[in-house]
Amino acid sequence: MTTNRLVRLAARPVGLVGREDFDIVDEPAAEPSDGEFRVCVEVISLDPAMRGWMNEGRSYVPPVELGAVMRAYGAGKVEASKHPDFPVGAAVAGLFGVQRYAISDGKNVARLDVDAAPLERWVGGLGMPGQTAYFGLLDLGRPKPGETVVVSAASGAVGQIVGQIAKLQGARAVGIAGGPDKCRFLTEELGFDVAVDYKRDDFADRLRDATPDRIDVYFENVGGPVGDACFKRMNLFGRVPLCGLIHHYNATEDLGGLSGAALRSVLVNRLEVRGFIVFDFAARASEATAKLAEWHRDGKLRMREDVRDDGIDAFPEVLNELFSGGNFGKLVLRLG
Ligand SMILES: NC(=O)c1ccc[n+]([C@@H]2O[C@H](COP(=O)([O-])OP(=O)(O)OC[C@H]3O[C@@H](n4cnc5c(N)ncnc54)[C@H](OP(=O)(O)O)[C@@H]3O)[C@@H](O)[C@H]2O)c1
Repeated sequence: MTTNRLVRLAARPVGLVGREDFDIVDEPAAEPSDGEFRVCVEVISLDPAMRGWMNEGRSYVPPVELGAVMRAYGAGKVEASKHPDFPVGAAVAGLFGVQRYAISDGKNVARLDVDAAPLERWVGGLGMPGQTAYFGLLDLGRPKPGETVVVSAASGAVGQIVGQIAKLQGARAVGIAGGPDKCRFLTEELGFDVAVDYKRDDFADRLRDATPDRIDVYFENVGGPVGDACFKRMNLFGRVPLCGLIHHYNATEDLGGLSGAALRSVLVNRLEVRGFIVFDFAARASEATAKLAEWHRDGKLRMREDVRDDGIDAFPEVLNELFSGGNFGKLVLRLG
């Protein structure tokens, strides 16, 4: 009998998650029925959105129920199958949850080419975060050659792809990240034109120096003071794809929103601020994957993952690294 190790949500966290918010248990792995297969999940994607999925209340997906397996994207290999399209040995990615073995009927599951890239990349730049960057920047940001694109959380899973796609469109890419190492990575390894360290006291001055022609597209990943500073630097008819607000995800009190000056910029510059969720583009997912994979194959798109080998029990601690900037690249937890 195969034993499954899994993480159930035990409580609704307040602030950063703690070990006490989860039950980490062993159970017999279920057997696939007709039309199903069982995946041995090798890596799970740690996404800032997971923190929101643990909260009660209305959102773009229902909250994870107390007692349910924690929701997560993952990738692994089919190891038992009664599904004709998913034979044993096939590499797959999907919403398998934080668990070692998952049963699936194949809905919303992608077959992966592990010769093209390892599993961790298929949950990163070639997976959901890459699609988020692709659609958010190209459909909503619509950068033109010569325009200035600024992206926050720039060294992370989504941000690193946004800046590189901006360059491929002929735009100027400015990344905002925490600390000199991440900033150096953006300019020296990914080809961003400039990187600005938001942790420095003179951040606003450096952002101004980095954007002499102001900002045409601000790809918003964080909110808070970083977002506020960028809204105030926008150009006439600028676009703001609002992808995420990580600064606020663990807040136990209202951290406030845009300042009056930032809101005024929305008005006087007639900004197009558009929130989006990658699922909005689900019908075109294969378009994004094909393009991202082509750029990746041709060496035009680099991807950095931060893979942790700590195993499933480390899920709460590793997840929290997203909120302290402890990750450097797409954060992935290897389960086995
Ligand atoms: N709309 C969608 O469908 C969608 C899909 C995927 C992701 N997202 C959003 O995209 C954003 C980035 O996600 P990701 O998966 O690519 O994560 P990530 O960038 O790989 O990791 C998160 C990074 O955010 C930065 N950060 C954390 N707290 C911050 C703060 N208070 N102020 C400024 N920066 C902070 C940290 O980098 P530094 O060291 O640079 O601070 C950290 O490494 C998140 O807001 C996420 O929710 C949205």
